[in-house]
Amino acid sequence: MNIETIESAALAAIAAAAHERALDDVRVRLLGKKGEITTLLKSLGKMSAAERPAAGARINAAKNNLQAAIEHRRQALGREQLQRDLAEQAVDVSLPGRQRAGGSLHPITQTLRRIERIFAAAGYGVESGPEIEDDYHNFEALNIPAHHPARAMHDTLYLQGGLQKGLLLRTHTSPVQVRVMEKTRPPIRIICPGRVYRKDDPDASHSPMFHQVEGLVVDEGIAFADLKGTVVDFVHKFFEKDLGVRFRPSYFPFTEPSAEVDVQCVHCFGQGCRACGHTGWSEVMGCGMVHPNVLTMAGVDAERFTGFAFGFGVDRFATLFFEIDDMRLLFENEQRFLKQFA
Ligand code: DAH
Repeated sequence: MNIETIESAALAAIAAAAHERALDDVRVRLLGKKGEITTLLKSLGKMSAAERPAAGARINAAKNNLQAAIEHRRQALGREQLQRDLAEQAVDVSLPGRQRAGGSLHPITQTLRRIERIFAAAGYGVESGPEIEDDYHNFEALNIPAHHPARAMHDTLYLQGGLQKGLLLRTHTSPVQVRVMEKTRPPIRIICPGRVYRKDDPDASHSPMFHQVEGLVVDEGIAFADLKGTVVDFVHKFFEKDLGVRFRPSYFPFTEPSAEVDVQCVHCFGQGCRACGHTGWSEVMGCGMVHPNVLTMAGVDAERFTGFAFGFGVDRFATLFFEIDDMRLLFENEQRFLKQFA
């Protein structure tokens, strides 16, 4: 075959190569070890000395021309591929990003941390006790013997067969008071946050599981004035408002004297509104001086030491603080509700 025919056919094949692999096949066919051009170059040796220079120059010129054409075509194919990739993989930077829902602390956790921070700053330790409690710690050791009318108010959830074994879900965090006094000598200054359980039907202000924080201070010379100062200071720090606080005489078997604490309504500042039942006050906790019987049963010398205790509902503080009007919202884990406290 003559060189012109080969060259023009090769140029057509190069131009027709639709992708890099096809182009490479063409290159091998022309310039590979047994390629058409390579074969022609090898045949130069068989020519006469007179023919050789002109033929050699002609074949080499064709070879250079084809190599350049291949390189040219390779670059063109590369550019085409780039354009295709860009079109296929285009990112529309004007589209809104994909939103990933971020987690956040539950309002009860936030409230608990707030409470713990205030008491920790005042030098209190944080203790915990079992949610499955025995009758002795939940009632007996708190001066609530069997058949005491206070038991009826607790709507206790007993474990299966627990009535005999004395096992129940604790109805308050007060039993932790007893457990702490049993294992540590005064001075004692602790709070114990935790879950408590009562056989209540859920409504706007009740839940069968809720949260309490118990406080206990035992030392020589502790007086009711210490309790008052502690509670008033805590309430002011918690609500970050100078709300009125009043102590109403009350009754708890484990404290004597006992009081209930009312705080001026955080919504109306005592004016009276729907949230406080038009009284201007919200009842927020029970407290009192630890009953000598309770100290004695836990092994604390009631002649030498006195103490105060208080207990309150965390969920109640959370609903007041965040202005939530239905406690059930705290336990339904509805994302749209929880997002408001993120
Ligand atoms: N344990 C009580 C309750 O569950 C709350 C309480 C009242 C705790 C008075 C106390 C206290 O420590 O002194 O309703």
